[in-house]
Amino acid sequence: MEKRSWAEPYKIKMVELLKMTTLEERKAAIKEAGFNTFLLKSEDVYIDLLTDSGVGAMSDQQWAGIMMGDEAYAGSRNFYHMRDTITEYYSYQFTVPTHQGRGAENILSQILIKDGDYVPGNMYFTTTRLHQEIAGGHFVDVIINEAHDPDSDHPFKGNVDIAKLDRLVNKVGAEKIPYVCIATCVNMAGGQPISLENLQAVRQWCDKHNVMLVHDMTRVAENAYFIQQRETGQQHKSVKEIVYEICALTDAATMSSKKDAMVNIGGFLAMNDATLYERACELVVVYEGLHTYGGMAGRDMEALAIGIRESVQDNHMQARIGQVAYLGKKLEDAGVPIVKPYGGHAIFLNAKAILPHIPQSQFPAQALAAALYVESGIRAMERGVVSAGRDAQTGENFMPKLELVRLTIPRRVYTQAHMDVTAESVIRVMKYASQVKGLKFTYEPKMLRFFMGRFEEVA
Ligand code: F0G
Repeated sequence: MEKRSWAEPYKIKMVELLKMTTLEERKAAIKEAGFNTFLLKSEDVYIDLLTDSGVGAMSDQQWAGIMMGDEAYAGSRNFYHMRDTITEYYSYQFTVPTHQGRGAENILSQILIKDGDYVPGNMYFTTTRLHQEIAGGHFVDVIINEAHDPDSDHPFKGNVDIAKLDRLVNKVGAEKIPYVCIATCVNMAGGQPISLENLQAVRQWCDKHNVMLVHDMTRVAENAYFIQQRETGQQHKSVKEIVYEICALTDAATMSSKKDAMVNIGGFLAMNDATLYERACELVVVYEGLHTYGGMAGRDMEALAIGIRESVQDNHMQARIGQVAYLGKKLEDAGVPIVKPYGGHAIFLNAKAILPHIPQSQFPAQALAAALYVESGIRAMERGVVSAGRDAQTGENFMPKLELVRLTIPRRVYTQAHMDVTAESVIRVMKYASQVKGLKFTYEPKMLRFFMGRFEEVA
């Protein structure tokens, strides 16, 4: 096939200068940070691949929107622009703004989940599962088995195994399942998409059992791009059309706009049911702010409305996913064990395969992320046993099959040369991987321990 380049559909108008550090400085910094890349100072980081959340580069249009902020306490014009944009692009009729994704998860979980309920989902996400648990629910993983296998090259590893949903409903009954929670481009599976066909099957299952379908739409545009590229019969549609179609199959959505929509802060809960909207409005004023700003400034809602439009452009998505795949191919060609297919927002290193001498109880992915920082000042994130946390019932560590380091690519921020440097750094760490030491906790927070946990090297 003829090669199609992914060159960026934009040019650079402003740059942010980066500080370079020495090996000695980085060794001191990671020790000071308790071997947790979340605790590093951003200043000490060269290429920041911790997350794609809130770190995208806004466009000149978005920055112009920032100047158009209507900072009225109630009824800001930017809210109505954002709400109408959400209806136009994502189909949902009602929108409740929140400060970010987890604010929406909190409100939704409190409204819909009763003590002892079960919430099936296509793999867990850290904050999503925690809010379900705080509301009294149990998360049940219904993703296909291939999603837990880093070497499977299934094109839609985000798919739901309908037989797993059937088993759950047979065991607990539909009245114990308030909703099915489906993430598009499943983060913890490696940024892997769900197919339209599978989502339609989930929709049918929900209709049959009279269960709501909730959409974690944090990375819906990336998922839509994969559908366009990979799913039979979808090539003629635009990303924009597929995004709308995905959303229209679901009843409600939680959104962290810090990803797809390229704003620094913001999110929302959206739905079609007027009663659910009413109840969400009652709670948003308790936790976030009035129902027409919910924790966002007017200017942020304006930038978000513009970001939604930019996020569904085909050429944007081609460059976005193209850049991630460029890094993936460099690593794969060098024999680095990574999750396949390449993800939408990140390339995930298989820490179990890179550091086979470190048992999972000594946090190989945490150790690998720290080693990569020391090597070159690149900051990545652990997505393995530390992120998975402990079982709320038994107190035991979850031992996920996937023990990964995420090289997350912010949108429109880094260049191809940064990707080259990143690949070279990972390849260098591979050469002395056998000398990397396991870690143990010196401080373990009770919830979401990956954010602030501290470690030391095992002797
Ligand atoms: N759902 C998914 C799939 C996410 O990836 C995130 C955040 C959230 C919900 C929560 O949204 O951060 O705005 O409160 N993911 C970030 C990450 C933090 O780095 O993957 P939030």
